[in-house]
Amino acid sequence: MAKAQAFETAVGLTTTKAPFIEEAVNKGQLYIHQPYELYSEENHEAWRCLFARMQDRWQKYANPHFLRGISNLCLDPDRVPRLEDVNKFLNPLTGFKAKPVSGYVPAFLFFDCLRNREFPTTITIRDSKTLDYLPEPDIFHDIAGHVPMHTDRAFADTLVRFGECAHTAAELVSQIPDEQEKVRRVASIIKAMARFFWFTIEFGLMKGSQPGELKVYGSGLLSSYGELEYCVESPDVQRYPIQLEWVINQGFEIDHYQPLLFIVDSFDHLFDLVGQLEQWMKDGKLNNVAPGEPGIGEADIRSFLEPVKG
Ligand SMILES: [Fe+2]
Repeated sequence: MAKAQAFETAVGLTTTKAPFIEEAVNKGQLYIHQPYELYSEENHEAWRCLFARMQDRWQKYANPHFLRGISNLCLDPDRVPRLEDVNKFLNPLTGFKAKPVSGYVPAFLFFDCLRNREFPTTITIRDSKTLDYLPEPDIFHDIAGHVPMHTDRAFADTLVRFGECAHTAAELVSQIPDEQEKVRRVASIIKAMARFFWFTIEFGLMKGSQPGELKVYGSGLLSSYGELEYCVESPDVQRYPIQLEWVINQGFEIDHYQPLLFIVDSFDHLFDLVGQLEQWMKDGKLNNVAPGEPGIGEADIRSFLEPVKG
């Protein structure tokens, strides 16, 4: 009874309104805990609706690694997941853990978490009245879109490799004596990495087992009811075999369905591409990528210039 009352009066952890998160941000706390009792019934209802309507679309469009991941995580279809429970299933498979955060994680810290097999995870959930569109991540995007992929060993190793790339970048720019040049160059490298991450981890397509078939592995697509179908079926989407030189120079916008997507052959292919990205970084090929989105903020630049040790 007491518990039921607690749920009724819970203030909620809604993306647009979460006093717990506001307080953490005001205190400068990036890494937080998940105060599970704060989820309101409306928050659980939002999870239930989001999870239920994705089932058919996942079966039809998601790649088999993701479907295995969803099954391995044993997510409760009716309640917002507890990260502790998710980690109990996830951690033994690949060593990865979902790590609760209060909001945006500066680029280097984000990649460094991946290197340590930790995935910065948003704990708020979108408002139940706006299930379809959300520019920022929420727990549905992070746990139902990203984390199932982290149960796959080849994919998990690719994320770690990405984190290692960030360390290589920090090391390379630390050797530049001129401060202005250091900032200019690191901004270009972060832009290249962010674009690569966007067109693969967030919005990637993969060849299916049948000729011409495409399967989705990008988390931005796998957590969007509308775009998951659109990205495979719509004649308005351009889909091309991935080319590193194109991806690192291609801007993207986050506020509408993606008009251009890239296809990898497999996760081994993706892993090799991250290795190639690192080699290009060492060769100076990421020092002058095409201008345009995404904009690189000061916090991202600073995070690479004053990286954590290790
Ligand atoms: Fe994401």
